This record gives sequence, C-alpha cells and structure tokens, in this order.
Amino acid sequence: MKITIIAGARPNFMKIAPIIRAVKHAQKSGKDISYRLVHTGQHYDRKLSGSFFDELNIPDPDVNLEVGSGSHAQQTAQIMVKFEKELLENPCDYVLVVGDVNSTMACAIVAKKLHINVIHVEAGLRSFDLRMPEEINRMVTDAITDLFFTTTEQAGQHLQNAGIPQEKIKFVGNTMIDTLIDNLDRLRKPEVFEQHQLEAGNYWVMTLHRPSNVDEAQKLLALLNLISENAGDKKIIFPVHPRTAKTLAALGDLPTNILFTDPLPYLEFMYLVKHAAAVITDSGGIQEETTYLGIPCITLRENTERPETVDVGSNVLCGFDPEKMERAFDQLNSDNWKKGEIPELWDGKTAERIINSIMNYELPKTNN
Ligand code: UD1
Repeated sequence: MKITIIAGARPNFMKIAPIIRAVKHAQKSGKDISYRLVHTGQHYDRKLSGSFFDELNIPDPDVNLEVGSGSHAQQTAQIMVKFEKELLENPCDYVLVVGDVNSTMACAIVAKKLHINVIHVEAGLRSFDLRMPEEINRMVTDAITDLFFTTTEQAGQHLQNAGIPQEKIKFVGNTMIDTLIDNLDRLRKPEVFEQHQLEAGNYWVMTLHRPSNVDEAQKLLALLNLISENAGDKKIIFPVHPRTAKTLAALGDLPTNILFTDPLPYLEFMYLVKHAAAVITDSGGIQEETTYLGIPCITLRENTERPETVDVGSNVLCGFDPEKMERAFDQLNSDNWKKGEIPELWDGKTAERIINSIMNYELPKTNN
C-alpha cells in the first residue's frame, strides 16, 4: 500500500511526524506499506517550516512544490496544478491530508479528481463560521474524503449529520498530542527565558495570527493594550507570525510588558507554554496543547471548532469582547481558573491507531 502524505503549513508538521513514524514502524514489522512525503511549500521560512522538520525528526520531503504565498485563490490553484503533476508521476493508493490549511483542501481535490482515495486526519471539526478560510477548507475536504479520522466523538457526529456512513469514520484521538507527548522530555528553554528572568508561572504567552485579529492595525493595538493592562506584574511573551509582524511594523509605541520575539521552534515554544501562567491565543492547535497540559488558555475568537477544549479542557472563549476578557483576566489573576481534563484518546497512540486502521480498511472498489 502506497500513501502520499501532504504537509504544507506549520500546524501540519506536528500532525504528520507521528504518522510517518507509525508507517516506518509498520514497515519494520513486515507490513506492506510505504509513504511519499509531499511538502507543498505553503510555508517556506525556516522558522515556520524547516526547524520543525529538524526538531521533530521528520524525514526530508520527497518533493517540495514550492508554491509560496499568495491570495487564497492563487495559493490553492498553484498547489493544485503542481500536485496534479506530482501525483500523475507518482501514483498511490491513498492521499493523506491533515488539518485545515489551504494545502489540505487543494491536495484532497486533486487526489479525488484523479480517483485516488482521500484520508483526512482531524476530520469533522466545525466552527460553523464560514468567514474562516479554514472552515471552508474543512467542509470541502470532508465532502470528498473516503476515510475520516477524528479527534473527538463530536467531530464524528458532525460527519454523520452530513450523511457520511459511520463505518468510514474512525475516532482515534489527536496526532498533535502524540507529538507533544513524544517531546515532553525534550523541551528546550528558549533564550528569552534567561534574558527576561522568566520563571515558571510568572509570565503569559501570546500568539495571534488570524486575519480577523491581526490584519487591522487599530484593532490589533487595542487588543494588545487591553491584554497589557490586565497582566499585572507578569510579562507577556509574544512570538510573532510574519502576517502579524507586517501589521505591527505599521504601529508606533507598543506596550512595554509585551516581549515580541520571532516565531519559536517547536521545542522552545512548547517549553514556554508548559511553564506559563496562562496562554492567550487565536490558534486552533494551541487550544488543544494547553488543554493537554492543563494550562489556562484564553482564546480570542468568537467560536471554536475544538469545543472539547472549552467543555472538558482549560480553554475559555472570549471573542473580542473586552468584558469577557476582563472577567477571564480576573479569574486568572485570582488563581480561580477551572481545572480541566484531558479529552478521551488524547493518549499519544493516535498515529499508531490510524496506520493500523488504514492497513485493515478495505479500499472501496470504485472511488466515488
Ligand atoms: C496558515 C493557515 C492557518 C494556520 C497558519 C499557521 C490557511 C488558509 N491558513 O495561515 O490555518 O493557522 O498557517 O501559521 O491555510 N509568510 C511568511 N513566511 C512563510 C509563510 C507565510 O512570511 O513561510 C507570510 C506571507 O506574507 C503570507 C502570510 O504570511 O502572505 C500568510 O501566509 P499563509 O500561508 O497564506 O497563511 P497563514 O496566515 O500563515
């Protein structure tokens, strides 16, 4: 069995690392399975791509399509044109896509149109917010996927509600958490720790990169000011995504208790998160990682496709509502945050379950 695995943007890399390891493990135990790794090149800066390959021991991609940045239509189209050629030259039984970035959707469409079975890891997540490009990517990908792997039972329910037969949906857990568990004893203290006399529990970590939060300069500044004013004596470490950096560059004075850094490598970023008093974010994956670690997380979004992080975990949604944010900051500052638990099957063995399941799955005779 040949599987082509797709990775394109930063959050994909943590998700494919354990899957590739599980494929290699199956190979070693004599199973007939091989993989080809395609990097679309959606992310290309070392800090958003190469460093993750090195730190997570992901093998070099067999090919990099080098699509780079562009508008959504440009980027998606570029990926499709280049991946179609790649797939015609290197046919396979399955194309495996992860997550919800443009590369996920673009490669799923190309595969399906070439009658190749599509596997979606992290299927069925829904924010029901079509202003998010990721929600469109999720819906389109799931509409043409053949085998669905989900992180929660609820994600499977969304798929069933859309008419997907239950036997195609496998609740397996979370490959991003596989990577976190694998690396917990390798996390590395970043330089900023010593530079600013950080100690476990005396700082917050912040990440913001959603267009809705960072593309408008005055909105971003208002957010930063509000967070800064509520931080008390805590410093706020803010590794800045290139998209956010563009907006920040146009702003004048920024709050001095916010320490801006370049995007951090995985092992350093997770070290910061693990020892933080709290995390403020608009990321998807970080809501899951803080839930696993039991770190208070304030999510600056109106909705989440990962409701288990709120219902079960340590996450609270504040949207852009100053009142909700201040309430959350009060709870944080008075050590009154909910405890949170780890969602079912987030146990570090998800990739193994995925590969076992693929090996035992009977391919449909007609691919439609
Ligand atoms: C993408 C994903 C988003 C994910 C995020 C994680 C989509 C629609 N969005 O958003 O779901 O949460 O990655 O980072 O797929 N840039 C660089 N260097 C790079 C890549 C990008 O400087 O290596 C800059 C470019 O100016 C680019 C901008 O960042 O135009 C946005 O990059 P893009 O890949 O379009 O989306 P992200 O905002 O990174």
